[in-house]
Amino acid sequence: MQQAVPPTITTCVFDAYGTLFDIAAIADHARDALGDRADDLMELWRRKQLEYTWLRSLMGRHADFWHVTGDSLDFAMAAMGLDDPLLRSRLMDGFFTPRLYPDVIETLTRLRTAGMRTAILSNGSPPMLTAATKHSGLDLLMDAVISVERVGIFKPHPSVYRLAVEQWDQPPTAISFQTANCWDAAGAAAFGLHVVWINRLGARPDRLPAMPQVEVRSLRELPGLIGVG
Ligand code: LAC
Repeated sequence: MQQAVPPTITTCVFDAYGTLFDIAAIADHARDALGDRADDLMELWRRKQLEYTWLRSLMGRHADFWHVTGDSLDFAMAAMGLDDPLLRSRLMDGFFTPRLYPDVIETLTRLRTAGMRTAILSNGSPPMLTAATKHSGLDLLMDAVISVERVGIFKPHPSVYRLAVEQWDQPPTAISFQTANCWDAAGAAAFGLHVVWINRLGARPDRLPAMPQVEVRSLRELPGLIGVG
């Protein structure tokens, strides 16, 4: 994979869930009730959550990410034979108070100290993103928090990535987009953003028509890639 990064980057835009926020850790909210099955529930929940975003976008039947997150959790709980409204509510709350990956605060601090603009571009609904960024302190490290709700369709629709360009009226080549989701990286690359795939889990690359320019394992590698520090 090519490792060259254009010297024109002025803005770093980040995916939220799975990239900044550790959603696998939301399983901890179900650990006492389910033990190791909590991880299976989380895995199925996340898979259905993403599927439902793609399917709703294809169907032209948008509902916000909170709604989709609830529908997908209901599917996953039913699939595992669980009927527990309190557990459901604890898991949903996990999306309001997600844990940050350990490389997030230090990387964002370095980028901002060097004068980079920073933003989140996420499927998350505005209330979910506001709660999660305030809870984690990320609100102090972001110039903008952009939700797909502005366009009413989910990633990887091109109109979502266009929001990052429109936010500051700048060319796509000025923006580096970071995501841990390979399909999101492909969507942003197809739109024309510079993309860094934060392949936290060492996943196999998808076979999609556009691919990220750079692949790294941790956000800590980002500042060096774009000439910061
Ligand atoms: C997001 C999903 C894709 O934050 O994780 O947009």
